Amino acid sequence: MAQLDVLQPKKEEFTMLVIVKNNYDLLSKEAAKLVADRLRKKPNLVLGLATGSSPLGLYKELIRMHKDEGLDFSKVTTFNLDEYVGLPPTHDQSYHYFMHENLFKHINLDVRHIHVPQGMAKDIDAFCAWYEQRIVECGGIDLQVLGIGGNGHIAFNEPGSSLGSRTRIKTLTGTTRVDNARFFKSKEEVPRYAITMGVGTIMDAKELLLLANKTSKSDAVKSAVEGPITAMCPASIIQMHRSAFVFVDKDAASKLTGTYNDTWESKIFE
Ligand code: F6R
Repeated sequence: MAQLDVLQPKKEEFTMLVIVKNNYDLLSKEAAKLVADRLRKKPNLVLGLATGSSPLGLYKELIRMHKDEGLDFSKVTTFNLDEYVGLPPTHDQSYHYFMHENLFKHINLDVRHIHVPQGMAKDIDAFCAWYEQRIVECGGIDLQVLGIGGNGHIAFNEPGSSLGSRTRIKTLTGTTRVDNARFFKSKEEVPRYAITMGVGTIMDAKELLLLANKTSKSDAVKSAVEGPITAMCPASIIQMHRSAFVFVDKDAASKLTGTYNDTWESKIFE
C-alpha cells in the first residue's frame, strides 16, 4: 500500500479538476467547502471574487457558514475581478454595490481589506497599475473565483483578449452589453467600458475556482475545458493553470465528453 501511495499522482501534479454536481445548490455548497477549507488553513487568505449570478449560491453558503459555524473573514483580503467605468459605488448595478449586498455586508470582512476596481477613477491607467501592484503587495491572490460568459469570457476579457493581459480598461462587446441590458432600464444605459483584471492577472492566482451552471453555459464550458486553448475562448487558458477547479452543474456539463469527479476532496486522481 505504501508503495501504491508513492505511485498515485497527487492533485498538485494536475492542472485542472472538473467537478460535476447534480444541481446548482450542490455545486455552490461543494465550492463553498473548498473556499472554507482554504480559509481555515490560511486565515489571511487573499480571495479573488466575481460578480454575476454564478457565485451567488457560493456567497450565500459562505454567509451561512459565517453565521452558523463562525467562519472568520476578519483577516481576509479580497480583490474583485472587474467594475463598470462611470458607475459610482452607490449605483445599484455597480459591482461595488453587488458585492456589498450579496456578500460583504453579511460577513466580518475588514472594509480596509476590500478591493474592487474604481470605475470612477480619474486616471484609469494609473489605477490599473496600482491594482496590479496592490495584489503583489498583498502576497498575490490565493484563490480566484470566476464565472464564465456564454461566449467564453472571464472577467471582462472577451474573445480575442490577450491571454497575457493585465488589469486594464476594456470596451464591452455588443453581446455582453445586450446580455447585461436586462439589469438596466435600457441597453443605452449599459456602460461601454469596464476595468478588468487581465487573463494574465487571473492566471497568477495560486488556485482558480470557476463556477458554471445552466445549459446556456454548456458550449462555453465545453470550449473552456475540452477545446483548444485559444484567445477566442479566454476561459480555455485555465487548462494551463497549475491548480484550477471547475465546478459545473449537470446542465452546464451536458456537452462534456470526459469523465469527471464529483468532489474536489478525493486524494487520488485517475
Ligand atoms: C463578473 C465577471 C463575468 C461573469 C460572467 C458570467 O465579475 O467577471 O465574467 O463571471 O459574465 O456571468 P453570470 O455568472 O451572471 O452568468
